[in-house]
Amino acid sequence: MDKFVIEESMGLFGRVRIGGSKNSVLPIIAATLLTDEECVINDVPELTDVLVMQELIEDLGGRTGWNAHEQLSIKVADIAKIEASYELCAKMRASFLVAGPILARCGEVRISLPGGCAIGSRPVDLHLKGLAALGAEISQEHGYVHARTKGLEGANIYLDFPSVGATENIMMAAALARGQTIIQNAAVEPEIVDLSNFLTSMGAVIRGSGTDTIRITGVKRLRGTNHTIIPDRIEAGTFMVAAAITNGEILLENVVTDHLKPAIAKMREAGITITESEDGLKIDARGISNRLPIDIKTLPYPGFPTDMQAQFLAFLATTPGTNIVTETVFENRFMHVPELIRMGADIKIDSRSAIIEGVEKLAGTNVKASDLRAGAALMLAGLAAAGTTQIHDICHIDRGYYKFDEKLRALGAKVYRENG
Ligand code: EPZ
Repeated sequence: MDKFVIEESMGLFGRVRIGGSKNSVLPIIAATLLTDEECVINDVPELTDVLVMQELIEDLGGRTGWNAHEQLSIKVADIAKIEASYELCAKMRASFLVAGPILARCGEVRISLPGGCAIGSRPVDLHLKGLAALGAEISQEHGYVHARTKGLEGANIYLDFPSVGATENIMMAAALARGQTIIQNAAVEPEIVDLSNFLTSMGAVIRGSGTDTIRITGVKRLRGTNHTIIPDRIEAGTFMVAAAITNGEILLENVVTDHLKPAIAKMREAGITITESEDGLKIDARGISNRLPIDIKTLPYPGFPTDMQAQFLAFLATTPGTNIVTETVFENRFMHVPELIRMGADIKIDSRSAIIEGVEKLAGTNVKASDLRAGAALMLAGLAAAGTTQIHDICHIDRGYYKFDEKLRALGAKVYRENG
């Protein structure tokens, strides 16, 4: 198994271009199943999760190819089978996003229930409630979901929780349903808006994306399109922490600052200087002697993103004073804490909150990545820790960060991948 070896790298400096959003490109690749015409998608990061989704589309009968750097073209002239490959779906929870499109295009889909993952049980009951409301007959047996319909009909759907994935699956299915669908208490994340823009450019009729009420009027067919993915706000937040935790200065290029409001607000509260210019967003933590303790509570957008919780918690491990981080979205998203404690952090977990007493300095050691964002948090901690940190099980990190070590090295970090 590959690992990352990191030497203390205080004072990172330079500029980094943020890539396309993983959590935007995955549903958008699933949405290409809704048309028999070619879709060209730009700013696609070649992440392992993206490669899995690409393989899933090909397994279903689609043709895909990389035209140029980060430009992916997909054409699903016919969907060859209604069953999504178990092996591929088992690799990545987001595979479940092909359910709505296959059902809408073929009238039937058979797909394995996504297993849980390190951060929680992650059920799909809201996805299924939405598809059933659109007229699908759904049965579950032996860990599979089987959904069939004579034709999807628009419906009014209220989501008990503003689930990102459920909103996306329902939006994609409703785009080809007969009549109007209203999704209430919908997720409002920027990735929902990006998917909505992609579908609209294919000829879908969608209004209200980005608000908690989305109206979709079904159409008979959708056409191919050319779309550029929005920048990855979570990768941007990760590099914000890289600057802050190493008392460095980094200019982030290709960011939408509107998507980063919670992270910017919390960084400023901690005493970090953040300035926006036409070049991008500059994070300047040089010469900061007295960082201030802060409290963070994760919430659905526009609240503080759960996907930035682990990275910010690593930053707070060396922020003097008492910091409190509360995770309200997932039930088990503190797997990075025991690893940070092994690096010398002073953290106590009390139910859904972590109480962090900032320490002077962390100490490098061997640690293990349990999930994508926990792995990123350990990378960041390793940059600020004395000595050498070795991070194992970095396949989790490769799922969501494209050339992470290369980008960090360009900023002066001493980080190397070692093939295991
Ligand atoms: C998306 O996951 C993201 N993944 C996650 O990013 C992100 O953490 C999450 O949204 C929240 O922002 C992708 O977009 C590919 P949810 P998703 O449905 O859609 C519960 C990363 O690190 N729930 O909004 O699975 C669920 O258990 C990943 O990039 C139900 O109860 O998130 C969780 O507690 C991790 N029933 C909460 O809602 C359902 O049917 C949020 O889940 C669906 C969800």
